[in-house]
Amino acid sequence: MGMVIVTENLTKDYHTGFRAHTIRAIENLNLEVEVREIFGFLGPNGAGKTTTIKVLVGLTKPTRGRAMVLGKSSTDVDIKKLIGFLPESPYFYEYLNPVEYLKLCAQLSGIARAEQQRRIEKLINLVRLERFVKMPMRGFSRGMLQRVGIAQALIHDPELVILDEPMGGLDPIGRREFRDIILKLKEQGKTIFFSTHILADVEMICDRVGIILNGKLINTGRLDEILGSEIETFEMVVRGLDRKMVKVIERISNKVIPSEDKVLIEVKTEEEVERIMVIMREVGAKLLSLIPRRKTLEDHFISEIQKERLKEI
Ligand SMILES: Nc1ncnc2c1ncn2[C@@H]1O[C@H](COP(=O)(O)OP(=O)(O)OP(=O)(O)O)[C@@H](O)[C@H]1O
Ligand SMILES: [Mg+2]
Repeated sequence: MGMVIVTENLTKDYHTGFRAHTIRAIENLNLEVEVREIFGFLGPNGAGKTTTIKVLVGLTKPTRGRAMVLGKSSTDVDIKKLIGFLPESPYFYEYLNPVEYLKLCAQLSGIARAEQQRRIEKLINLVRLERFVKMPMRGFSRGMLQRVGIAQALIHDPELVILDEPMGGLDPIGRREFRDIILKLKEQGKTIFFSTHILADVEMICDRVGIILNGKLINTGRLDEILGSEIETFEMVVRGLDRKMVKVIERISNKVIPSEDKVLIEVKTEEEVERIMVIMREVGAKLLSLIPRRKTLEDHFISEIQKERLKEI
């Protein structure tokens, strides 16, 4: 498989303040993104996502190491026409409407006049801005602007699409529509690299993810490899257990939460489920639900962050 993005020991320092204080924003990042892959770049605030993206799109140079994009150095101007980019806080000319703005982007990208209108219409449909084409963007919500931003990134039909927090400001419906857009782009043969901290959305569409924390890549791989497919816990909801039985079950499970007429019980193995079922049968209690739970990306993310923080102490 061809690699679209390869970074080798990518490191970026910022120098700030009077005494040229150094902030290491990213350190020894080794990333690989394959052609036609949807890659989710995950990390909390200040982790180094935007810095990495700025290097990839050639807005800033690495302090050490290198980034290769579409087979060339990220600093090579030739690759710019093959990359679509949505920055973290895009700026829009507020007196233009989306069509006028996209037309300007198309002209700047050197798209032939005859082709411009067709592309703009297609993109307006893709990002579902049909009803707002004649409105100046100063009245737009953040979510609507984000849609314009995504359309703008695609205007020149790039091979690689790099989006910094594309789901910021989108409501749940907008996020679902965004996921559909990303999947359509993949179908068209494009490679998509996007940063986010909205884990649920990544979980549904990404082929692989990279998790960055304090400038370091702490995990990268296919989601099923990172999360594993095993069942982590079983959640049982039971009705008809008296207080004495709850005490007995507490010896099997360390998470027993009684509510008015039900008890929520969490256990780790099938064997423990069986033992609880035996007790239930004896006392005539009723199983209302049994849900096997896999580890979610959220669980993984939180445990990785905790591990990292413990190392720092
Ligand atoms: N231009 C800059 N000058 C100095 N420090 C910077 C600069 N840009 C970023 N940093 C610092 O580098 C680190 C990484 O920042 P970066 O913006 O890459 O994180 P991020 O993962 O994109 O965060 P967020 O989720 O908040 O967007 C932070 O500590 C940040 O304060
Ligand atoms: Mg950022």
